[in-house]
Amino acid sequence: MSAAPAPVIAIDGPGGSGKGTVAEQVAGQLGWHLLDSGALYRLVGLAAGGRGVALDDAVAVAAVAADLDVSFLSGKGGDTRILLSGVNVSGAIRTEAAGAAASRVAALPAVREALIARQRAFRRPPGLVADGRDMGTFIFPDAGLKVFLTASVEERARRRHNQLKQKGIDVSLAALSRDMAERDRRDSERSVAPLRPAADARVLDSTGMPVESVVKAVMGWVAETWPDAVSNPRTGGAASGLTE
Ligand code: DC
Repeated sequence: MSAAPAPVIAIDGPGGSGKGTVAEQVAGQLGWHLLDSGALYRLVGLAAGGRGVALDDAVAVAAVAADLDVSFLSGKGGDTRILLSGVNVSGAIRTEAAGAAASRVAALPAVREALIARQRAFRRPPGLVADGRDMGTFIFPDAGLKVFLTASVEERARRRHNQLKQKGIDVSLAALSRDMAERDRRDSERSVAPLRPAADARVLDSTGMPVESVVKAVMGWVAETWPDAVSNPRTGGAASGLTE
């Protein structure tokens, strides 16, 4: 008889909804593994660009996705360094250009297919918190808890603007808001695994909510779903994984 698969919390939503931060904090509190699936699509975009592959060449981009040479090194304090073919790309995958490239390659069915097994391999005891667009609908349809986190496009653009400003990157709020709406459209309208809440997801609109309140709401649902996980967390922060 095989053991029950490790529990999964799927946190999906559009860019800037805060799902990366929330997933990281929930995983940290529980001591569960973390998967930031968006980072994989960002890595594919970056690797394809680095090899001179056109982002609309589905066959070539899928080949890049299939043999992505990536390592996730978890440091103390939960920060993760991401190496692509041995080069630290932790900063490079977070730019707006990398996000736009990720959204384009993510629309290619063959690329999504090439990343399925890699994502499911993150599911290990004691549990996994997975953030993305299709965690609850497609990658982990049996997740015990599914959260769809959203916020108004204005608020999401403002949050991203503040994040970039803190990194010394100055972009106009209007341009950011426009790009974000365009990315939402592409992610929602693609034919495979589009951005949408799973039928059994709990939808949370975080507009105007501080991140601590969102984490508290999610932890409340975790406590309802797995009372033991909350009363006996694996201490020491997120066990390992891929963080935003
Ligand atoms: O969450 P993010 O901004 O890092 O994601 C970058 C892009 O990757 C996003 O525009 C859509 C795509 N993505 C996806 O299609 N499916 C996922 N599970 C995660 C991200």
